[in-house]
Amino acid sequence: MGSVILGSGSALPKRCVTNEELAQSVDTTNEWIIERTGIRQRYLADDSETTSSLATEAAKKALEAAGIDAADIDLIVLATATPDQTFPATATTVQANLGIKDCIAFDVAAVCTGFLYALTVSDSMLRGGNARRALVIGAETFSRILDWEDRTTCVLFGDGAGALVLESREGEDGILATRLHAAGHHNELLYVDGGPSTTQTVGHLRMRGREVFRHAVVNLAEVLNEVMEAAGMTAADIDWVVPHQANARILDATAKKLSLPADKVIVTVDQHANTSAASVPLAFDVAVRDGRIQRGDMVVMEAMGGGLTWGAAALRY
Ligand code: COA
Repeated sequence: MGSVILGSGSALPKRCVTNEELAQSVDTTNEWIIERTGIRQRYLADDSETTSSLATEAAKKALEAAGIDAADIDLIVLATATPDQTFPATATTVQANLGIKDCIAFDVAAVCTGFLYALTVSDSMLRGGNARRALVIGAETFSRILDWEDRTTCVLFGDGAGALVLESREGEDGILATRLHAAGHHNELLYVDGGPSTTQTVGHLRMRGREVFRHAVVNLAEVLNEVMEAAGMTAADIDWVVPHQANARILDATAKKLSLPADKVIVTVDQHANTSAASVPLAFDVAVRDGRIQRGDMVVMEAMGGGLTWGAAALRY
């Protein structure tokens, strides 16, 4: 058994906030943000928009693109670090929103690598026969856990969601290989200083940006090499790289390390900023809908985030 991608979808909050607008309330400038990160704007959720509402919208669009009914879904895996509630899993809220009476539904937490973890788990469950059709979602409202007094982090993130519909097929392989890693001893480089079992507060994101940057370039290049080898591909076989959209400089440095031409790298960080677990499926959906990623194309995805965690996937669309 293998699993193939039937369709994709994505969603953004209504409100777009440019760097200039942010600079009215945060001690920063448009020039600094663009030069250090490539970010020009981000979308921020209002009170009526939640991780589950964005996830549901992305899921509906993915189902429509896949041409299947919500009732045909028997597995929902949702990657998020900003769930609606501590429990139950936001995946179950999406299930209810979609009107699915019974299916497997759970969240995975691997922060910005969450979507790669969710994709790997979903692919394994489809191959193993636990389910036939899966919704794999990355959805976040990071604006809720940002410290808006900390200019070194609050300018970097945005909210959004992306989703894929996968189907298990005999003798067909869409997801060719995935590779995942975690290094929990680097917790202090990127974490949230709150949680139910410690402070009983939601907490705020804290990051040692320079150190995260250094780890990102090394780890992402390594895991991309690993996944390409596992899939029997070389860099020359890749049509598109869909990276986690953290920072334009990380994207450039990783592409250079692997000698990948910049025009094969899908970049949305300028438009959406870092949407954590949502960024890879969001960028993938943008590139499918604007016609860059075509059926049959070879695509690699990669991400790295808090944990530290990192991972990659190689697929044929
Ligand atoms: N606006 C203006 N100035 C800012 C600023 C902001 N938003 N944030 C920081 N600065 C200032 C700092 O105070 C510092 O000033 P100083 O030299 O007077 O002390 C200066 O800019 C440089 O700060 P530094 O943190 O060293 O900048 P940097 O070049 O490392 O860039 C990041 C900061 C966060 C953009 C960069 O480290 C990065 O991209 N890291 C990876 C982060 C990431 O992608 N994380 C998510 C992974 S999932």
